[in-house]
Amino acid sequence: METVLSGIRSTGNLHLGNYFGALTNFVKMQKENRCFFFIADYHSLTTHPDAKALHGNVKNVLVDYLAAGIDPAISTIYVQSDVPEVCELYLLLNMHAYLGELSKTASFKEKARKHPDNVNAGLLTYPTLMAADILLHNADKVPVGKDQEQHLEITRKFARRFNSLYEVEYFKEPVAYNFGNELIKIPGLDGSGKMGKSEGNAIYLYEDPKSIEKKVKKALTDEGPKAPNSVKPDYIENLFTMMKAVSSPDTVQFFEDKWNTCEIRYGDLKKQLAEDIIKFTTPIRERILEIEKDDAYLHKVTAEGAQKARESAAKTLREVREIMGIRKF
Ligand code: TRP
Repeated sequence: METVLSGIRSTGNLHLGNYFGALTNFVKMQKENRCFFFIADYHSLTTHPDAKALHGNVKNVLVDYLAAGIDPAISTIYVQSDVPEVCELYLLLNMHAYLGELSKTASFKEKARKHPDNVNAGLLTYPTLMAADILLHNADKVPVGKDQEQHLEITRKFARRFNSLYEVEYFKEPVAYNFGNELIKIPGLDGSGKMGKSEGNAIYLYEDPKSIEKKVKKALTDEGPKAPNSVKPDYIENLFTMMKAVSSPDTVQFFEDKWNTCEIRYGDLKKQLAEDIIKFTTPIRERILEIEKDDAYLHKVTAEGAQKARESAAKTLREVREIMGIRKF
């Protein structure tokens, strides 16, 4: 069996973009692989979250994982900070991580530009921590989106560098992997590209029907197509993309036809879209509401997950220490 590993940072609740971009993949992979899915709470510290909010956000991601169908009986679900071995591997890998390569990373440059007052060392070494997450379990496949490709590239580079430096064939070079066809990239509701956590742009898995309706109703539209079979502007294409994810093919076709003949009524389209999103998210929301009340269950899942992850991690650290010459007297 191949090892799959992925994580999501604990910065809030998960939305439809996370669901179609990540969670459905995780769920599909769990049967045929040895899977580790974790909550990257150390990674979220780079932006100095409120101490009170952090724990709540770890819980949110954990509950969303479970509600989406990641099964702790077959996959290992854990919180990054419950597995201190990752810190040691991060330290060891940092000794072979160079300022030049870390500071050239697109994500680092972007964050440094956006937040010039908080260019901390954790941010600089973010890719090392991510490499440590992955190499800790010697993962073969890492389901991630495009924006994480460069981090994965660095992970492969670190794995190669370690192997060649110590003349071993120890770390594997993990590849980005997604189940089946291309990932559906769910757009935001404000017509501004990808669904993200910014206000108003995302529909969360826990969101109640009223609020979903309101958000969809507010999505940007225009006076409609001027000529038959016109190309759709981005913000309209976005609504169709979302519809393709949650509605039946017949429904999508119906509105495609209406668009092509210039008979489309955005009010109808939005009403249908909201209805189908609600139909889609309701069972997930119900599971979220149920699971989030059950602290004993959440404790059990994370404790068992941490134990399994630590066993795998401890083995790696034992071997890495040996290879690097850190030995017992
Ligand atoms: N950097 C990833 C993100 O922001 C989260 C992450 C941390 C991750 N460690 C990882 C993803 C290891 C995959 C594997 O989305």
